[in-house]
Amino acid sequence: MSRRVIISGNWKMYNTTAEAKELVEGLLAGVKDLGEKEMLIFPPSIHLKEVVAQCEGSKIQVGAQNMYFKEEGAFTGEISPTMVKDAGADYILIAHSERRHVFGETDELINDKVKAAFLYDLKPVLCIGELLEDYEAGKSKEVCRNQLVEDLKGISAEQMKQMVIAYEPVWAIGTGKVATPEIAESIHMSIREVLKELYSEEIAELVPVLYGGSVKPDNAAGLLVKPNIDGVLVGGACLKADSFLGIANA
Ligand code: PGA
Repeated sequence: MSRRVIISGNWKMYNTTAEAKELVEGLLAGVKDLGEKEMLIFPPSIHLKEVVAQCEGSKIQVGAQNMYFKEEGAFTGEISPTMVKDAGADYILIAHSERRHVFGETDELINDKVKAAFLYDLKPVLCIGELLEDYEAGKSKEVCRNQLVEDLKGISAEQMKQMVIAYEPVWAIGTGKVATPEIAESIHMSIREVLKELYSEEIAELVPVLYGGSVKPDNAAGLLVKPNIDGVLVGGACLKADSFLGIANA
């Protein structure tokens, strides 16, 4: 079975309005050549509406980097799933490692966000991944397994068919230390094992599992060639159109 291949970019807290516009212009110029590959970008939410409008009619899909799980209320500083939808985004990044480790998001909160994504018709890209100490202790697979079990509680098989998982070892994010394609492939296979255990073989085979962590134009091909790596989630290298397109074309 051939799975979707998704080249995604998380802008994090970068880009002014003018920079965002210029970056999207650059991507639009190159995205036509991507063939079957999908491109998905996560701008800061303040730019969502403009980026969605700029990408309309193109192959570029747009998502928000984060949201709260309630529809509305006294939650200063947060944005709601309905606001993300209203801005025209289709995807939502959930549980990026910076949300887990800088902002202290728990698996319980993450699970609420995954449920909210489906409730409000947003497609979640759920990030999982282990810390350096877990990696050094040989606990990468165990940590990812636990995160999947906790974060996917109450998510149905039908909903899982819309899900994208991103494996991002925390020790590889923004550090220049990319996981070797062999390490990443091995974890991706174990993620599929967990999906099979929690759901079914069909779902384990269907759900795209992306790799993230120091992906660059010169290491992307080695990762993307692996049978269980269905795309990438790029941070630093997605902020310039040529380097993100270089990854997409790898
Ligand atoms: P990086 O970030 O590519 O800069 O390592 C990846 C991410 O945080 O998604």
